[in-house]
Amino acid sequence: MKIREYITFDDVAIVPGKAVIEPSDVDLTSKFSKNIEVYIPVVSSPMDTVTEWRLALALARLGSIGVIHRNMSIENQVLNIKLVKSSPQSVWFEVLKAREEEPIESITFRMDEAGIGSAILFSGSLVSGIIVKSGLDQDYWYSKASSLISLLREYKPTPLLDEDGRLRVAAAISPFDERRVKALEEAGVDALVVDVAHAHNVNVISSVARIVKNTSVDVIVGNIGTKSAVLDYLSKADGIAGFRVGIGSGSICLTAEVTGAFAPTLTAVLEAREALEELGAHGKIPLIADGGFRNVGDIAKALIAGASTAMTGRLLAGAEETPGTKVRVGGKVYKQYRGMASKGSIERRYAEDRYSKPSKGIEEGIEGLVPYRGSVISIVAELVAGLKAALGYAGAWNIESAWRGELARITSAGREEAKPHDMII
Ligand code: IMP
Repeated sequence: MKIREYITFDDVAIVPGKAVIEPSDVDLTSKFSKNIEVYIPVVSSPMDTVTEWRLALALARLGSIGVIHRNMSIENQVLNIKLVKSSPQSVWFEVLKAREEEPIESITFRMDEAGIGSAILFSGSLVSGIIVKSGLDQDYWYSKASSLISLLREYKPTPLLDEDGRLRVAAAISPFDERRVKALEEAGVDALVVDVAHAHNVNVISSVARIVKNTSVDVIVGNIGTKSAVLDYLSKADGIAGFRVGIGSGSICLTAEVTGAFAPTLTAVLEAREALEELGAHGKIPLIADGGFRNVGDIAKALIAGASTAMTGRLLAGAEETPGTKVRVGGKVYKQYRGMASKGSIERRYAEDRYSKPSKGIEEGIEGLVPYRGSVISIVAELVAGLKAALGYAGAWNIESAWRGELARITSAGREEAKPHDMII
């Protein structure tokens, strides 16, 4: 038996390549699926502490896409899709201006009276924060982000729209729930993401083949971790619109620890790319590198390895727009983040969806807290700036040219040298 070798983000570095443009001009436009383009190659995980309508709406307005999780009834998931599809495109509607000293209650009273959804707070001539009214629960949220407006101005988001000018949104499905597929399609969902922990399974493959045949929207399949999984799928199911790759890398994931099974996201992308290149389909069938990203550099490495987009739960979980409630611990604010195979998520699944299949009976995810980070707008703006810088170093000017970039294997000495060192801080 030949033992394979796995490599992961920390094992490689981006090789600096000849740059022909400035980093700020790097074009991040990519493909989420065969027929759906995104302007930012970072999408959100279908997890019950990450993506419901509010995060998906914000992401679509910024030029990306969210995948609504499936840990809820069909009716509720349909409602989530409809809320995104029926919302206005722009990040800013009419804005009310207020002085920072004005009490929040007085500002929200004025917003209500004027029927205006957002207020910008000024301290002198500087922007000191924003207040936004959310559509569903009529709550207000406040973001103290002095840099928010300048970030937006610099980065000029282009909303992600369908042919009818409505914002785009995707939804996670089980491969065995045709009723849900039909309902989501009728609600106007743009793409379906078959959401299973180990999709390289003969029953899943035949169900996916049926779903793809009977639906007109793009169907993405995952998760898979090997070259042979891609080859098997493409020989048995015609018309797959994308693959979600990586098994066991997620920050909340226990799979590798509990079961010993693991396909690190970076290796999984390289393997899937090899399969697609053999079939002449790399770039035509997009790869979503899923899980394990700790920073923008990891995302850039996955893109250079051959992915079209990166899917993350961890990097977005601290956003205001995620479903989790805020928790205060020792004066700091956090949001809950948990694996979809954690105890809490599994319990919710049985409570909310009586059609859910019995699970494997083991927990493969953990539950915890991540620091609260304010609006996803500033998180995404930071990711965009970082990705442009990283791809700029690689000598890339867009995602396709990034695929011609190079990664180098580094030693543990190199990894140490790459960090700040020999300093008293
Ligand atoms: P993260 O961004 O590193 O936290 O990884 C998120 C990814 O982990 C998701 O997109 C899923 O592919 C995966 N995932 C979500 N929940 C679980 C779980 O409970 N166990 C294992 N993997 C999970």
